[in-house]
Amino acid sequence: MTLEEKIGQMTLYTSHFDQTGPTVREGYKEDIRKGEVGAIFNAYGAEFNRELQKIAVEETRLGIPLLFGYDVIHGHKTIFPIPLGETASWNPDLMEKTARIAALEATAQGLHWTFAPMIDISRDPRWGRIAESGGEDTYLNTVVARAKVRGFQGDSLESEHTLLSTAKHFAAYGAAKAGRDYHTVDISDRTLREVYLPPFKAAVDEGAGSFMTAFNEIAGVPATASEYLFQDILRDEWGFDGFVVSDYTAINELMPHGVAADSAEAGKLAVKAGVDMDMQGAIYHRHLPELVEQGIVSEETINKSVRRILRYKFRLGLFENPYKYSDKKREEELVLNDDHLDLARKTARESLVLLKNENDLLPLDKSIPSLAVIGPLADNQRELIGSWSAAGDYTDAVTLIDGIKQVVSPQTEINYARGTGFDSSDRSGFAEAVEVANQSDAVIMALGEKANMSGEAASRSTIDLPGVQQDLIREVLKSGKPVVLVLMNGRPLDLTWEDENVPAILETWFAGTQAGLAIADVLFGNYNPSGKLPVTFPRSIGQVPIHYDMKNTGRPKSENKYTSKYLDIPNSPLYPFGYGLSYTTFEYSDIQLNASEITKSDSLEASINVTNTGDLKGKEIVQLYIRDLHASVTRPVKELKAFKQINLDPGETKEVNFTLAREDFEFYGLDMNQIVEPGKFKVFIGTNSEEVKEASFNVLE
Ligand code: NOJ
Repeated sequence: MTLEEKIGQMTLYTSHFDQTGPTVREGYKEDIRKGEVGAIFNAYGAEFNRELQKIAVEETRLGIPLLFGYDVIHGHKTIFPIPLGETASWNPDLMEKTARIAALEATAQGLHWTFAPMIDISRDPRWGRIAESGGEDTYLNTVVARAKVRGFQGDSLESEHTLLSTAKHFAAYGAAKAGRDYHTVDISDRTLREVYLPPFKAAVDEGAGSFMTAFNEIAGVPATASEYLFQDILRDEWGFDGFVVSDYTAINELMPHGVAADSAEAGKLAVKAGVDMDMQGAIYHRHLPELVEQGIVSEETINKSVRRILRYKFRLGLFENPYKYSDKKREEELVLNDDHLDLARKTARESLVLLKNENDLLPLDKSIPSLAVIGPLADNQRELIGSWSAAGDYTDAVTLIDGIKQVVSPQTEINYARGTGFDSSDRSGFAEAVEVANQSDAVIMALGEKANMSGEAASRSTIDLPGVQQDLIREVLKSGKPVVLVLMNGRPLDLTWEDENVPAILETWFAGTQAGLAIADVLFGNYNPSGKLPVTFPRSIGQVPIHYDMKNTGRPKSENKYTSKYLDIPNSPLYPFGYGLSYTTFEYSDIQLNASEITKSDSLEASINVTNTGDLKGKEIVQLYIRDLHASVTRPVKELKAFKQINLDPGETKEVNFTLAREDFEFYGLDMNQIVEPGKFKVFIGTNSEEVKEASFNVLE
């Protein structure tokens, strides 16, 4: 290969389909023809991708097939709940299945490679990209990472429905200061390794073929120029043999970051850090030839990157048949087929979280004579598929009102009023909303955010219900009718007022193509809600950052004035991590441990009995946390280490068993090596991170 041909393989350009960043390069077909681009993103469709592939294969000297990438994040055509919502299912099996379906649909449309999973630990509700993540917890995100990589990549890289996955964004993108997207990150190496990196390590262990850089800097070093991240950790420590792609123009951004004086220097820094492919920046394309000629970058560095990329083109079988992904027949059979839609409904139901249900207002009776459905999200399709719904078409989505109509009795009269917009101060629809509430036996209010109020470049400084939506609730409550608040949003909201004033609240995130049906299933009891929050809901934006696994401090909160607390609100969140109600109730016995002392290399068995004490069949997600009480470095007050789902009939009891092993007790010691230190530990098992039973044990030398 000539140097130019090699650099072509390191270049990724977008097609004219979509723009997911600031610049669009014109003339990409010519770039393909000249062999100057090895991968294309934002292009899909069996026929279109075949046409582009044909240029690469038939019109270039070497005929190296293109790799087609795309943001297939929570479904391709059949859209599943946003990742934060899906994580609320705590169901790795479903997470894997939805990724598999996304892969089937996307590969049938000519795609080889997805820019997912996004496994950035996200603890700041202001940050819009929290919607794309698995939330605040490290362990839960490692579960997501594994399930998604397995689902996208399937059993064999060679099959024509393998979607190569990308673990992104490496690293610590979610720690952006003040929740402002692209903002700087300054965290310790300990926090980086303990909190932010484990999901990425899990993705490597599961065989993820590529990694994407993050836009942020960490303590002065932009991730896209970080040898520490890409050479020392990813390749040397973890043995990753895939390739690294920059985020969109992230190499160019090394200039405004202030570590590169010009674009050539930016290219040098990125390639030396181990970034193999330049997404849309054209920096490698323009500058690598001269950098090699001048001896600033060695040709061996280029060779290494090209080998990593070509290795995956080989592994995907593209050299045997570059067109095998572009199959019109498969595309017609697979896209949005009934099985996929069924899975979308099932996944959506499991991701809904019941936040409040005073006097068992829910489930509502399907034969209720009349129902008011009020709010900007009641009869809305556009928002339901959420941000990063890529190829998804919102016109395929089932609205809440349509879903309700399909689930309730044909005699139920449905009275609709929009009431107000999302982010508007318009109160002119309030009177109509109150009128329909007055005419009805119960009220469902569908309120929240627009889809584009979360996702990339969508940070908010407040996390209230936007616009005058809260005032609309105030007015409607005056009707005296029972009101159920159905929320759609991409981040935790401040629901302190709503929690005090509205009898029932259901968090539905953006639940995807089948949203309306899934929400109706829960509202009317076809499905007993089982979702649990993957992220803390604060009482106020002033508590942020707030997450369940905080440290204790030297002055944990007490009655004493000089302790760590606020004057005006409690330290505790409104709804803790792991929280979510059911239409039934579960009772937990005490914890049984098989030993009160173990050695560092022993495992520990913990078990608990859970009983369904209500009248309905239900699913419970039983959560296990630990705390290392004294160590050479401070440890969090709780750390999630395991969870299990159980289904219980009314009155039924099941024993739930967990095994904890050495790695569950490990942490990074003072010298940053992973160790287990002898001493007292606590184990907690319960229904959320706050309501738990506890037991203690000792770890001996
Ligand atoms: C920028 C986003 O940060 C990244 O997640 C995405 O994959 C790329 N744009 C491509 O659209």
